[in-house]
Amino acid sequence: MLTAAQAEAPIGVFDSGVGGLSVLRALRTQLPQENFVYLSDAAHAPYGERTDEYVTVRALRVAEYLVEQLGVKALVVACNTATAAAVHILRERWPVLPVVGIEPALKPAAAASQTKRVGVMATRGTLQSAKFKVLLDTLQGQAQFVVQPCDGLAAAIENGDDRTTHLLCKTYVRALGNFGRQPGQLDQLVLGCTHYPLVGEMLQNLVGPAVTLVEAGAPVSLQTRRVLAQAGLLRQQSGGSGTTRLLSTGTSQALEGNAARWLSLDGVVESVQTGSAR
Ligand code: DGL
Repeated sequence: MLTAAQAEAPIGVFDSGVGGLSVLRALRTQLPQENFVYLSDAAHAPYGERTDEYVTVRALRVAEYLVEQLGVKALVVACNTATAAAVHILRERWPVLPVVGIEPALKPAAAASQTKRVGVMATRGTLQSAKFKVLLDTLQGQAQFVVQPCDGLAAAIENGDDRTTHLLCKTYVRALGNFGRQPGQLDQLVLGCTHYPLVGEMLQNLVGPAVTLVEAGAPVSLQTRRVLAQAGLLRQQSGGSGTTRLLSTGTSQALEGNAARWLSLDGVVESVQTGSAR
């Protein structure tokens, strides 16, 4: 039997660092009445160039903390790399808990593309995953996808290193090829890592105004609403607006700064321990 207390429980959202804030922003817009707890695994970031095994263990430790210590009613894996490596393992571990993952938004980008050529920026881990290969296979013939692993970019964004961020964005955008709306050009750029929307303006300037940047925050928030509704776990509007707690396994600076900048959230970042990597 579901109790009102279960609906009051927060939704747990996590990422290797601050990137998942781009998803949390969409979640808070879509579900303003919900309580959220956001966990940045900053002590173990970045995930993107680590082994699958490492990312899986981290995802499990973080999820254990959110589910078993904090009693979240649902999990949103706001990280493409962790979703690719571990979402199926999280679902196996907590079969009744709604678990929502994120993947690069290839499908909407292919549908929207006029030139049928789509650029994809993501971490090496995401692009090398079996899950991504399956996604590409299902879209065969719908568009040509040009993929670019962006080593170091999530880390530079995480560290607030604007110079390196700009340099890497420029390098990776150039490597992808020609952007624009003419035949043969890439007219969509998929941001396949949740850190990248935080530098969306920089990327937009590099690819030009004719190109659409495609991210998955909004579809993830819609899917979260759907699974909560199905499970009867939506918090009632009459409960008033929800709260957001911010947690970090590492330093608080990046999370505090980015939460204030992107979500106008001035909450204090709490420090947590989620066990070592293995
Ligand atoms: N923000 C994450 C993603 O969506 C991970 C970036 C990283 O830690 O390398 O893939």
